[in-house]
Amino acid sequence: MTMQETNRASEFREIHAEILSTMERMVFESENLHVQKFKDGFQDVGDRWCDVGCRVLPVISSIVETKPDSGSQVERLLSLVINYRECLFWEQTYTKADGVVGDALLSGYAFAEISGQQGPFISNQLRTGVGVWAPHVEYPLHWHDAEEIYWILSGSVRFQVGRDRPKLLKNTGEIIYISSSVPHSFETSDESVVMFYLWQGGDLRQVSTFEKKIS
Ligand SMILES: [Fe+2]
Repeated sequence: MTMQETNRASEFREIHAEILSTMERMVFESENLHVQKFKDGFQDVGDRWCDVGCRVLPVISSIVETKPDSGSQVERLLSLVINYRECLFWEQTYTKADGVVGDALLSGYAFAEISGQQGPFISNQLRTGVGVWAPHVEYPLHWHDAEEIYWILSGSVRFQVGRDRPKLLKNTGEIIYISSSVPHSFETSDESVVMFYLWQGGDLRQVSTFEKKIS
């Protein structure tokens, strides 16, 4: 490894560590009882590092840049995502061949893991990351074994949690909790959305089951 590569690798680790510690602070300072269940998972995260590199996907340019004004941890995490978005490894779970999500979502979403089974911070207990969804995309009804938190960093989302439940509007700063195996879906409106997500329980890279295939 050249000196330049070594410097890049250590810089990337520092960036991810800063994001992870901000996530941890949010969880530990939260009074939300569902969020508090995720505290223990952080004990195991931060030591084992795997350099996954970086990869940019087009949707990340849709993130709306806002000026922080309240000094909240939500704004701090959003600022880190905006500042370092080109240093993260953005990926997608689904492909067109899977036939479970539409073209708008395929070209309009991406997530970057911060911790999980495959790193960059290795954990078999806690999956954390940030996701970006473009305006007017729908993530159809699906479920998985892990319990999940979505924490909105920017934008607003109409969320359905539970089969046959209404879609409710959730705004920046709001927290959405999804129990293990509960069907959930969401859709964005006129602006892009950035969310911090947490998973724990079950296979942390499990591919979700969808209610139906799209035609
Ligand atoms: Fe989910």
